[in-house]
Amino acid sequence: MRWLIPAAGLATLTGCNVSSEFLQRMEHQAKYEYYEASDFWADGRAMRTPPVGTVPRERFEKLPELKDPTQRQVALTGRSAGQPVAHLPITVDQNLLTLGQKKYNIVCSQCHGVLGDGNSIVAENMALRLPPSLLDLESKSDGHFYVAINEGYGVMPSFSGELDLRERWAVVAYVRALQTARNTRTDGQQPVPQENR
Ligand code: HEC
Repeated sequence: MRWLIPAAGLATLTGCNVSSEFLQRMEHQAKYEYYEASDFWADGRAMRTPPVGTVPRERFEKLPELKDPTQRQVALTGRSAGQPVAHLPITVDQNLLTLGQKKYNIVCSQCHGVLGDGNSIVAENMALRLPPSLLDLESKSDGHFYVAINEGYGVMPSFSGELDLRERWAVVAYVRALQTARNTRTDGQQPVPQENR
């Protein structure tokens, strides 16, 4: 009887190892990490480029209002007949603006400033070309902002990898909100005309 107790203890201690052999956890399974090499593909890369023209379904799943293929194409490219579209192709509501605020603060604010005025620590230390104030671009179309995010603009890279379709338009809507906020007076006075700012 006396030897039974240590034996039971030993079984408990080793139990963990024994079961892990049978019950392999996903994090320990063989898999490729980002940028890892692979013998399987001719180019030696594990990361694959999606076939040209393909769009992950979930991009549109978040935008059920876009059903028509032409509408979807406009929403995806931000262009109609090659030109940036005048207005957002999706409905702007509180949820979209909240999403836009979150994503703008994460992805854009470090350069264009939290207020969109181009004031940021990064901007102060940039030598090549400064991130412009987005507040001075009120006359630009909604599509202009989307295209800049989607395709990049001059030295600014594309942020389509960081933001999905809905998030990109959400950021455009939020930039519009920042522009509107700049012109809003809380003292009942008329907004200052652009030329006097
Ligand atoms: C790493 C810094 C950086 C980040 C992050 C960044 N930008 Fe830019 N952005 C720039 C710079 C610099 C330019 C000017 C590029 C040029 O003129 O060559 C620019 C240009 C632009 C323009 C074009 C301005 C014009 O004159 O029409 C828009 C619009 C814009 N950015 C929006 C955004 C939005 C929206 C985000 C977030 C999704 C973002 N940027 C993130 C640095 C940045």
